[in-house]
Formats: sequence, C-alpha cells, structure tokens
Amino acid sequence: MLINFNSQPKIPEKITKMRIEYKNSGIPTILDDSLNLLLLTLQIKKPKKILEIGTATGMSGISMLYTCPDAVLTTLEKDEESYFEAKKNFKESKIDDKITQYLGDAGEILNFLDGEFDFIFLDGPKARYIDYLPDIIRLLSKGGVLFADNVLFRGYIDGSKECPKSDRTILRNLRKFINTLTENNDFVTNVLNVGDGILISYKL
Ligand SMILES: C[S@@+](CC[C@H](N)C(=O)[O-])C[C@H]1O[C@@H](n2cnc3c(N)ncnc32)[C@H](O)[C@@H]1O
Repeated sequence: MLINFNSQPKIPEKITKMRIEYKNSGIPTILDDSLNLLLLTLQIKKPKKILEIGTATGMSGISMLYTCPDAVLTTLEKDEESYFEAKKNFKESKIDDKITQYLGDAGEILNFLDGEFDFIFLDGPKARYIDYLPDIIRLLSKGGVLFADNVLFRGYIDGSKECPKSDRTILRNLRKFINTLTENNDFVTNVLNVGDGILISYKL
C-alpha cells in the first residue's frame, strides 16, 4: 500500500485550483509532489532573491513568493501568451511589485543577468539545462540552492524506461547536466526520485 506522508503546501486554495485548471487544460505546471518539496526547501532556505527559469502561467512563482513573503522573484519565459497570462496572475495575486518578468529565450537573458541569487528554480527546456549551467553557477551565491525539476525525465535517465530516439538528445544533455554538477566540488548535489525527478544542489 502506498502511503502519502507529505503534508500539503500552505498556499491559497484559489492558487491550487488555478494550477489544477491549467494542468487539466494542458498547460505545464509543476507536479504536486515536486511543488511540496520545492516549498519545503524554500521554507528551510528562506531565500531573499529567487530566479526562476520557466515562468509558464506563474503558478510556481506565486507559490514560491507566498512561501517566502520577504523574497523577490526574477522569472524568465519564452512564450508570449504564457508571459502575459503570468503577468495577469501576478497582478491579481498582488505580488507584481516583487516580480521582474523577462520575455525571451532564457539562454540569452541569463547571459546579461547579473547580481546574485540565493535560490534558482530551473524549470525550463530540459535539453538546455546544461547550456544554462555556467550562468547558473555564476549567478548563484555561496550558500545558495539550485532546485531543478524533471531531471529523471520520465524514467529514461535511470534506464527504468527506454527513451524514444526522438528524445535522446534531451537524455544525453540531462545526463551531462547531472554529471557536471555531481562532479563539481564546489557543490553538494542530490537527485531525488520525487515527481519527475528533482536535483537539489547546494553551493559551498
Ligand atoms: C514546465 S514549464 C514551467 C512551469 C512553471 N514553472 C510552473 O510550475 O508553473 C516550462 C516553461 O518553460 C518555457 N520555456 C521553454 N523554452 C524556453 C526558453 N528557451 N526560454 C525561456 N522559457 C522557455 C515554456 O514556454 C514553459 O512555459
């Protein structure tokens, strides 16, 4: 028997409902178990400056700021419709004054971002995680946390499922991303079998 030992995230019911509605209409948003772990990690870390790669409609962004009311969020999104939907959701949640939104390719935006972030939530295109890594390492402060979603990629990474040929580049790039971080002595990294796979990395 599978028992769920997790408590539910402490976010407004309205946001949970919106997230489920988006999910049901095919709009990508974080899985329940992954969100639980994300918010728990944030509650422990209490970051002041969060960077998110992959805004979508703002559901994870709102949840993160609700959990960390003293934090500010910079969030990047390539899709114009999602960017404006998130803008509307941030305004309605009355947190738009704490958010800097960028519309465009994360790879390009990361290049010109500066300053330091003490928490980075990586939830964009999986094939590009490895390309973003040098900027992520540069932008993450010492003692900062990187939280990356979908790193076990539907069970393809650990070989429990065979990866279709069309997804092999993503698989290769994700493996490289995980290996690069786990071999980097400036980081302590763990990959957890939660949701679609979560990588948590702490910068020493
Ligand atoms: C999994 S969704 C993010 C879900 C969101 N974090 C949440 O939990 O509500 C990934 C998002 O990354 C965006 N994306 C894909 N490629 C991108 C790129 N090159 N630069 C920026 N965003 C990108 C997609 O449009 C999509 O909205």
